[in-house]
Amino acid sequence: MAQINPSILSADFSRLAEEAKAVEGADWLHVDVMDNHFVPNLTLGVPVVEALGKAAGTPLDCHLMIEEPDRWAPQYVEAGAGSVTFHAEAAAAPVRLAREIRAKGARASMALKPATPIEPYEDLLPELDMLLIMTVEPGFGGQAFLDIMLPKIRRARQMIAKHGLELWLQVDGGVSADTVERCADAGADVFVAGSAVYGADDPAAAVRMLRHQADE
Ligand code: DX5
Ligand code: ZN
Repeated sequence: MAQINPSILSADFSRLAEEAKAVEGADWLHVDVMDNHFVPNLTLGVPVVEALGKAAGTPLDCHLMIEEPDRWAPQYVEAGAGSVTFHAEAAAAPVRLAREIRAKGARASMALKPATPIEPYEDLLPELDMLLIMTVEPGFGGQAFLDIMLPKIRRARQMIAKHGLELWLQVDGGVSADTVERCADAGADVFVAGSAVYGADDPAAAVRMLRHQADE
């Protein structure tokens, strides 16, 4: 079954705990950590993740859009994240980092920006629990879905099948009622949605609707 991960980036930051509770029933809560260097935006860090982990009834899927993830990612596991995603473009030693995240007890995930090919990372896939294909340039919520990424999602799914791997394939950026089915058809099974969930009158209903569409 498809997993839907609402992105807290599109929530009201002055009411984070309530906003987290508004999407109970979602599989994971997606938390976008940005450092103003890897991406031109600054969001939140370890202390907020720790507080959110305690307040939310949903496990945290932390997406680190930061420089030096080798140095910082383990702290997000210690703060309570159940899944930690680092960017391939920023990691100095992705295999070592993925192993460290797993050893500390979280799921290890690696993200690729739109212009980063998957092929150079094929041999690393067994080290990961999830691969994130960005379907917008990372940095902001509410951007238009890049449908030129669909062939990359398809190639990733084929690669996962070829190696007989269990890893999840996540898409993030512009996922909505209009685009979720195309992503699912291409082989994605974990869907991040920010504006499509928090921009809806009933965020929990939006999660159920997206899951239903993805599973069709
Ligand atoms: C963008 C973030 C996304 C963002 C998605 O850099 O990684 O998680 O919150 O927001 P929407 O779903 O509105 O594109
Ligand atoms: Zn994200």
